[in-house]
Order: sequence, then structure tokens, then C-alpha cells
Amino acid sequence: MSGDLKWNKIFGAGLGTAFVILVVQQASGLIYHSEPPKKMGYFVDAPEEAAGGETAELPPDWGTVLPTADLAAGEAAFARCQACHDGHQGGADKIGPNLWGVVGGPVEHRPGFAYSDAMTKHKGEVPTWTYDALNSFITAPAKYVPGTKMSFAGIRDAQTRINLIAWLRTQGASGYAIPAPDPARQPGAAPAAGGEAPVTEGAAATEATGAAPAAGGAAAPATTQATPAAPPAATSPAPANH
Ligand code: HEC
Repeated sequence: MSGDLKWNKIFGAGLGTAFVILVVQQASGLIYHSEPPKKMGYFVDAPEEAAGGETAELPPDWGTVLPTADLAAGEAAFARCQACHDGHQGGADKIGPNLWGVVGGPVEHRPGFAYSDAMTKHKGEVPTWTYDALNSFITAPAKYVPGTKMSFAGIRDAQTRINLIAWLRTQGASGYAIPAPDPARQPGAAPAAGGEAPVTEGAAATEATGAAPAAGGAAAPATTQATPAAPPAATSPAPANH
């Protein structure tokens, strides 16, 4: 008798377990409904991890970094753009527009090129390819101009971008002034006193006008006042390389 009961219990326990397993299977089937991914393949957009680090980073202090940039390295870096861009004067548009003179030029600087709506929208917001704008765009094109048809992941390394922009500038844009060094952008000046913020904005605004005379201590009085190093550097001539 008691033996029968024991087997009943064991059998019952087994059934119960099987039932539980079934239920769990069904439920997880509902919860983890495995559908094919909506977007197949992968979008080669690496700078995700940069998002955290680089947004916190100060933009380059162009007045300091451009005169010392490695132009040869910049030209070499342009190899990554050449699949889609010609950088020569008079060169044709390819998948992307010719980039001769784009530095400091208007966004959508090639009238004949079929730009994306995204780029046209961007032009309405930031009309000039300032150093900052170019730097942001090249860091992560799809992030800076969402919807751009420039399908390029971006260049992660800040120095590579600086070299590239410095070299691009020599391609028909050496007249575009290099701004005076900006103390607010010097390493270590990062979370500067609240008063520093307008300085950066002012500098950026001056740059955006495209006119920004490099020698213009007057353009950013706060800058000059903040650093004794500004005047000599401000006169640093734009390298006249080609
Ligand atoms: C896969 C092709 C491709 C690659 C690679 C590429 N671009 Fe582009 N680029 C484009 C296209 C297409 C556009 C037009 C974007 C739009 O209309 O949204 C463009 C636009 C631009 C613009 C804006 C031009 C203007 O007239 O406003 C700049 C600047 C630029 N690219 C720079 C670069 C640089 C620098 C590199 C290399 C680091 C690069 N691109 C790599 C395809 C490419």
C-alpha cells in the first residue's frame, strides 16, 4: 500500500515537472518571440563607443592644432574619402561632391550635386563648413547630419581628423582663416568657470561667419584677456602650402 502511494507521488511529481516545463516553454515562446530582425545586415557605424568619450571632449583648438598639423598624414587620410570624393580643383563629383574649397565654404557647396534632404536641412541650421562643423561631420556623419547619404562610418581619431581638415584646407581653402588660439579649448580648461562658456560661443560664432580674421584679437576680447599667449599666436600666419 504504502509502496503504491510512494510511486504515485513520484509519478505525480514527474508529471508536475513536465507540466511546469511545458508552461515555461510556452510562456517564454510568448515573451521571447523570435522574429527575424527588421533590419538585416549591419550599418557600419562604429563611433558608437565614441559617443560617451568624445562628446565630453573639447573641440580642437584650431588656432593651435592647425598650424602644426601633419599635412602629409592628412593627405594620406583622404584616401578614405576618395572612393566618393575628388579633392582636386575642377574635379568631377563622384558618389559625393567634389571637395575642392569645401573648408569654410557653404554647406552644399556644389550647386550641381544632388544633396540629400538631410543635408539641405542641415544647411538651414549650420550654413558653413567651419572647422568645428567639418570635425563633427567627419567624426560621425550620420550622427551629425541624421539621414545624410554620406554612408561613411566616420574617423574616430581626433588627430587624424585634424590632419585631414588641415590638408583639405590646402585644397582651395587656404584663404579660410585659422582662428586665434582659444584658451577655453586648451586641455585642462574643460570645466572652466561659467564665464568661459560665452568665449567659446563667441569664437565659434566668429568662425561661422567665415570672415574671422586670424589676427583679430578684437573679435574675441575675452580670449585675449584670458591668456597672455594669445597675441603672438594670433599672428601665426596661415601656412601657404598647396
Ligand atoms: C561612401 C561614399 C563617401 C565617403 C567614403 C565619404 N563621403 Fe563625404 N559625402 C558623400 C556623399 C554622398 C555626400 C553628400 C551627402 C548628402 O547630401 O547628404 C558627402 C558629403 C560630404 C561633405 C559635404 C559637402 C558639401 O558640399 O556640403 C563633406 C565635407 C564630405 N562629404 C567630406 C568627406 C570626407 C572628409 C570624407 C573622408 C573622411 C568623406 N566625405 C567620405 C559620400 C562619401
